[in-house]
Amino acid sequence: MSIAKSGSFNFAGQSPTRLSSTGSSDAGSDAALSLPISASDVLEARYTGKAALRDEMLHGNPVLMRTLEALGMVGPFTMTNPWEMTDPQGHSTVNAGGYAAIPFGDRYPPLAEFVSRYASDDRSLGLPQQSASPWRAALETNLIALVSRFLPQHADSKVFFSNSGTEAIEAAIKFVKAARPKARHLINFYGAYHGKTFGSLALTPNPEYQEMFKPLMPNITTLPFGDSSALESAVRKLGAGNIAAVFLEPIQGEAGVIVPPPNFLREVNAICKRHDILIVADEIQTGLGRAGEWFASAAGGLEPDIITLAKPLGGGMAAIGATIAPPKIIARTLGGFGKRHSNTFGGNSFSMAVGLKSLEILVSENLPARSKRLGALGLEALQALQAKYPQTLEAVRGSGLLMALQFRTVIPAKAIPGLGDLVSELSGGLGCRVLYTGGVTANFSLSAKRVIRLTPALTIPDETFDTMISRVAATMERNPTANHMLRHMPLDRLVRLGRVAFGM
Ligand SMILES: Cc1ncc(COP(=O)(O)O)c(C=O)c1O
Repeated sequence: MSIAKSGSFNFAGQSPTRLSSTGSSDAGSDAALSLPISASDVLEARYTGKAALRDEMLHGNPVLMRTLEALGMVGPFTMTNPWEMTDPQGHSTVNAGGYAAIPFGDRYPPLAEFVSRYASDDRSLGLPQQSASPWRAALETNLIALVSRFLPQHADSKVFFSNSGTEAIEAAIKFVKAARPKARHLINFYGAYHGKTFGSLALTPNPEYQEMFKPLMPNITTLPFGDSSALESAVRKLGAGNIAAVFLEPIQGEAGVIVPPPNFLREVNAICKRHDILIVADEIQTGLGRAGEWFASAAGGLEPDIITLAKPLGGGMAAIGATIAPPKIIARTLGGFGKRHSNTFGGNSFSMAVGLKSLEILVSENLPARSKRLGALGLEALQALQAKYPQTLEAVRGSGLLMALQFRTVIPAKAIPGLGDLVSELSGGLGCRVLYTGGVTANFSLSAKRVIRLTPALTIPDETFDTMISRVAATMERNPTANHMLRHMPLDRLVRLGRVAFGM
């Protein structure tokens, strides 16, 4: 393998894992180094396909890569247009993946052009931690204007920025604990997904995620989602004064798009307000239009004290978490010159600029309304498919452009005693694969293994949306029972998948 001084190299060769010396030396230092892969190599697509996959296997997450490779959907992909993508073999799919974090599709021109202008014209500091920042101030102001339009009590609220959904939840945990120091308990719901860092993991009651890391944050009471009488009982049992907050998603996303019964959010609201218990609405997946409303919590009758946002705020280009809370709640944690909570990158200018433009696009194109309209059409079509192919689709659900297909197991779970979970995982994986081979990229969920979510961009053109739905229909036609998905899976792929599953 030769590595030139510029950093470019012969990709047909071995993996370029080591730094090489150019032989030249700087005064007093070792020989100057050159890295195996230059940024231009990637930008100019000299480094793609096989080389990238090989290096991800070596230095990235090999389990994920092997799984995706066995399923025949490992990419790397290139965008055809904002809403469609192509794999290295030329197979094209509608992109309904991205875990609800791609609100406009890839590199949506209004956002991409703005980012180019930002890169060439902006003169602000990239990381204005020790100063005011026009980008951050503008996004704070616009977010509060938007939130308070639906929840007027947030008119003087503040925004704490971080870099992911889980961090937005971590901040919320600290805010409620500081605001209610004597109340040790938090309430969450079965099926909830709030993230995987240590605090949010404790609020994500999935044994597969939690077990290895116990003991987690204590004093969390988990209740059935959708049953407000369970909350009444828990308040009686624990004592209202001992409960700092209830954390909930207005619609549970990772659990498989679980929409609660119509009065649930309103009833939770009434109970919490009556007992002075704080409400944290996790709108990281549902918020800003994905579920067909600006805020699914407010639309459902919840008046949250704290709102967490993330995914779509970054426009599919930047990583932003936001925790919104009134001054009296936020003050206790953020007092003390940031000693009690801070981060380095939250509020950085690039993310704030992308967030500001993303929010502007969501508003100017009225994307929540579009999500609601297309989502209703989509759900109707999916319900018809479920009625026609009940041996493949056990259920379908949806709210806006957050849609779920729940597959049946590809073989009866009891056929392999003790491995029911694996059968579910296989069924969901194959569901994802048949959709992909049929021309639709969708989201697998580790929390609800037989549920595959469709989360296309809120800007998806009507024709592309129709194409997506007709491809789902054609996929069901080819797989009139779930077992067909297994029969269509080449044996060698199945063996590879099995090897990953059993850690071989
Ligand atoms: C409702 C909800 N909360 C929190 C998170 C965690 O966000 P992140 O993956 O950015 O940490 C997610 C991610 O899927 C989510 O859906």
